[in-house]
Amino acid sequence: MSGIPHDHYEPTSGAEKWLHKRLPIVGLMYDTIMIPTPKNLNWMWIWGIVLTFCLVLQIVTGIVLAMHYTPHVDMAFASIEHIMRNVNGGHMLRYLHMNGASLFFAAVYLHIFRGLYYGSYKSPREITWIIGMLIYVLMMGTAFMGYVLPWGQMSFWGATVITGLFGAIPFVGDAIQTWLLGGPAVDNATLNRFFSLHYLLPFVIAGLVAVHIWAFHTTGNNNPTGVEVRRTSKAEAEKDTLPFWPYFVMKDLFALALILAIFFAIVGFMPNYLGHPDNYVEANPLVTPAHIVPEWYFLPFYAILRAFTADVWVVMLVDFVTGGIIDAKFFGVLAMFGAIIVLALAPWLDTSAVRSGRYRPMFKWWFWLFVVNFVVLTWVGAQPAEGIYTWISLIASAYWFAFFLVILPLLGVIEKPLPQPATIEDDFKEHYGKVEGGAGDAAATPAE
Ligand code: HEM
Repeated sequence: MSGIPHDHYEPTSGAEKWLHKRLPIVGLMYDTIMIPTPKNLNWMWIWGIVLTFCLVLQIVTGIVLAMHYTPHVDMAFASIEHIMRNVNGGHMLRYLHMNGASLFFAAVYLHIFRGLYYGSYKSPREITWIIGMLIYVLMMGTAFMGYVLPWGQMSFWGATVITGLFGAIPFVGDAIQTWLLGGPAVDNATLNRFFSLHYLLPFVIAGLVAVHIWAFHTTGNNNPTGVEVRRTSKAEAEKDTLPFWPYFVMKDLFALALILAIFFAIVGFMPNYLGHPDNYVEANPLVTPAHIVPEWYFLPFYAILRAFTADVWVVMLVDFVTGGIIDAKFFGVLAMFGAIIVLALAPWLDTSAVRSGRYRPMFKWWFWLFVVNFVVLTWVGAQPAEGIYTWISLIASAYWFAFFLVILPLLGVIEKPLPQPATIEDDFKEHYGKVEGGAGDAAATPAE
């Protein structure tokens, strides 16, 4: 496991020794749950547990929903209504699954922003980051296909627009689109394969989550200072860390309980708040909705997709240079995928030797601007692609790329970082009172 010295599992009874020799599974579980964890982790380190909860919730509710759902264009919509009206607890199951997807994405965005602010993606945690990005892309694919299953108007038209993007790929686009859809248009074959993949992918995600956790258990967690745990001796490591059980398990469960209180309030009192009313109208290939809008968690990328129209000079230039191979539509598709790729490349684009944003006075400002920009992209993605909105999307999309391709590489060179604490223990004492000696003791450690 991690390079941090700590107590490892030692089998004591005869039965334990017998099992340990053949399959050291208890040892694996012990070392996982007792892993030394930086003791200064703050509340931004709770999203991992929320994400794990969401994954389990989606799988469990999804499996039961699948027992009553029919993946056929003539019956899908009616089978959802059947779940909502006739199946015991059916409406609760469906609302949990629908809103569970939103909680999943809210948590993943906060988890990613935490990683960006505290530089968790930096060496030696690049693999944790890349596995995380793979999980994120699979989550998007899963959510997109899931949204098609109720076979409402937004399901059908969303699927038509998004799969149509593949048609923009030069030369082979049409062939790829037909291959993905299983025919010339979104139809029964599409619905069936989306159902099949929507059921499969969460299990692939679960496998990747195990590797994600394995990766950060190997390097040890990052923490708000970005300063590593001292690994030279067990005594020093113990001053910087606490075992995951019970300290962080309790903290995580407390945070999860608070978040679930909000989640259940939404599921119970306003379950359709985040949905679109048009999806309660059965899919009709002959009637296009006035505005085709994806779910909120896709909006930033939808905004980037639509930002690069034919009258933007960069698009004109690229169109001209490539002899029309990269036209405005394909440019938009490249920009959308490119936005995710530059995010994935953050470990190599960020040149600063300082990990945590806490000690990076210039980075902080650009980071918060990036967060605001993300909110703006989400908002503008839901607006019609006309007038002032096209300008806003263009500026916000440009900032997304500038942040990763210009600002992150440059800041490492020009920024003068603030002094960092020498150890995690020092930071802990500064934030939570002195642990040994000094006047702050009585208040900070009442047990003493
Ligand atoms: C199903 C989705 C995911 C699950 C269940 C998950 C789970 C976790 C857990 C439990 C941690 C430990 C610390 C914490 O609780 O924050 C963690 C850390 C981390 N995650 Fe994720 N994660 C997921 C997706 C992602 C994504 C999409 C990214 C972004 C690319 C990401 C990047 C990271 C990084 C860099 C760390 C290391 C931070 C540290 O060591 O403290 N994760 N993840």
